[in-house]
Amino acid sequence: MTAAPATPSGAFSAPDAVTPETDDPVFSVRNLWKVFGPKADRVPGDTSLTGLSATEVRERTGCTAAVRDVSFDVARGEVFVVMGLSGSGKSTLVRCLTRLIEPTAGTLHIDGEDVLAMDRSRLRELRRTRAAMVFQHFGLLPHRTVVDNVAYGLEIQGVGRAERRARAAEMIEKVGLAGLGERRPGQLSGGQQQRVGLARALAVDPEVLLFDEPFSALDPLIRRDMQEEVIRLHREEGRTMVFITHDLAEALRIGDRIALMRDGEIVQLGTPEEIVAAPADDYVRDFVRDVPREQVISVRRAMRPALAGEADTGVALAPGTVVAEAVEAVARSGGHVRVVEDGRTLGVVDHARLLAVVAGLDPDAAGPAPDAADSHTTGGEVAAV
Ligand SMILES: Nc1ncnc2c1ncn2[C@@H]1O[C@H](COP(=O)(O)OP(=O)(O)OP(=O)(O)O)[C@@H](O)[C@H]1O
Ligand SMILES: [Mg+2]
Repeated sequence: MTAAPATPSGAFSAPDAVTPETDDPVFSVRNLWKVFGPKADRVPGDTSLTGLSATEVRERTGCTAAVRDVSFDVARGEVFVVMGLSGSGKSTLVRCLTRLIEPTAGTLHIDGEDVLAMDRSRLRELRRTRAAMVFQHFGLLPHRTVVDNVAYGLEIQGVGRAERRARAAEMIEKVGLAGLGERRPGQLSGGQQQRVGLARALAVDPEVLLFDEPFSALDPLIRRDMQEEVIRLHREEGRTMVFITHDLAEALRIGDRIALMRDGEIVQLGTPEEIVAAPADDYVRDFVRDVPREQVISVRRAMRPALAGEADTGVALAPGTVVAEAVEAVARSGGHVRVVEDGRTLGVVDHARLLAVVAGLDPDAAGPAPDAADSHTTGGEVAAV
């Protein structure tokens, strides 16, 4: 999976994925392990341990396997969300990406370059210019003004004062803090401080932004504002982002894809729609239980093949339209509406299909289309779900 997938529009929808410049992933992670504790490096290779739960490994060895045999790619231009309960290994995993935490085993590449083979100066460059991190507790320098905080990354790169202040002013404006450049962090609200943290990360123009629960200290309204900010930045710049959260609504709102972690493992990796519509196990099902499905699941997943005559008539919706929006169209039409892509009818949705989604049923198991015997496929144009 390399290309950022298209996602539906709607209340919980992700931003439109930006077309990757190339299909090469930004990060490519294979069989990555991070084990804390005595003789940690023996754990990944020991087959008598690798099948055990995290608790069993701890009991047997005294080691904590924080990340266990994790593999994934982060595609160029996508927002890749890492989600999971507290202690599931999210921070450890993301810190491993730039070796703020040294992985115990596995392979790790950025733009095809072996991160584990980087020497100190190359690593420093990676962290300063290629993959900037935004932390939960802002990490601002209290005695410096906002401008100087934002310019800090450029300063340690050796950029001249005039240039870095100009660039900082630009970033301050971009994150909505125009006019506050001469204040100190203590004179800002929590949300404003987090914007400074974001501006500081953006100032070095990194290829990837890594966020470790950046908004969890903020109250809900400001948090929502900051999510919008991230979505806007992503849309405007197409910057690749890896974003940790344990808030499902946040993950669904901003993620192109979500990796769900439990006990150091990725238990499911997919689009918000895939995770909500087809949870891999009970842990994931529990996570997504209260999600309003109609705001995440698209008509592409809800549709059935068109019957004779249906493929050419009626209102047309794009395949990414979420069910919540399709409900209105179906209610108005009184019958079916078509799911159309590039002028082709892929299928149709009607009351029964949409209700099945809302009810959490598999639309295909919710009964056949009316008069299914009449079903036709015009030259392969009508696809089953
Ligand atoms: N330096 C360390 N030494 C030993 N164990 C550690 C260390 N850092 C993390 N751990 C353990 O590794 C596991 C994963 O921790 P991690 O911080 O990655 O979780 P997290 O998913 O980010 O949790 P949270 O949502 O609370 O931030 C936990 O069991 C934690 O106690
Ligand atoms: Mg954490």
